[in-house]
Amino acid sequence: MKGVILAGGLGSRLYPLTKITNKHLLPVYDRPMIHYPIQCLINAGITDILVVTGGNSAGDFLQLLGNGSDFGLKGINYTYQQGEGGIADALSLAEHFAEGEPIAVVLGDNLIEGNIRQAVEDFRAQGGGAKILLKEVHDPERFGVASLDEAGRVLRIVEKPQQPETNLAVIGIYLYDARVFDFIGRLEPSARGELEITDVNNFYIDDGSMTAEVLNGWWTDAGTFESLLRASNMVAQGGANRMDL
Ligand code: DAU
Repeated sequence: MKGVILAGGLGSRLYPLTKITNKHLLPVYDRPMIHYPIQCLINAGITDILVVTGGNSAGDFLQLLGNGSDFGLKGINYTYQQGEGGIADALSLAEHFAEGEPIAVVLGDNLIEGNIRQAVEDFRAQGGGAKILLKEVHDPERFGVASLDEAGRVLRIVEKPQQPETNLAVIGIYLYDARVFDFIGRLEPSARGELEITDVNNFYIDDGSMTAEVLNGWWTDAGTFESLLRASNMVAQGGANRMDL
């Protein structure tokens, strides 16, 4: 399985911090934000990694991460998203890299305490389709929100609903088979003008091949002032999936 980290976008919710740099280069406690999703993949045994970046300061990723040797990687791959076409648009750039293999996708502003290794193994065992990870939150209207049936199957995901049906946020870690790129090709831009990852996930739900697991340990995004501060505090209090550099 290959790994893809999506670190494009303009980070406009963090303006002016993001006026001259990329959101994923900002500090989360004592590391640049991008370190955490990289470590998340490595901890799950995924070492063939593509970083999709974009906007300003894209060259700084190269200077920061180099060939990945700080993480014990043999190399690291990069590509560049023009504009801010959405998460699924950024992911479409990984098709060539994926070479038909399944992929683990991590949003560059998502941090978790634990390890997704078991979820990755469960996904491998299911032999195709997709898997999402869920977490109970107090502010589901900020996220993609999943509704489940009594057996725990995902019925639907609604992106940033005004009146969420549940408090189960879809976190920014997605496991997909190679059909993900066909599904992306069928997307239409949403009302906010982006290709939405939630629409990709709903294709898999309609296809009957989506599974979901609830994540153990804490999870946070870091794309707003409040969540960026929370992320730093969570890491400072310990337990983030990182290694000593
Ligand atoms: O954090 C989890 C949430 O992430 C999910 O619950 C939502 O379903 C999903 O849509 C997403 O919501 P956000 O609105 O918070 O996503 P945001 O626009 O902040 O983008 C998250 C990351 O995706 C960002 O850190 C970098 C990457 N990205 C985003 C866009 C819009 C790109 O690489 N390119 C893009 O064009």
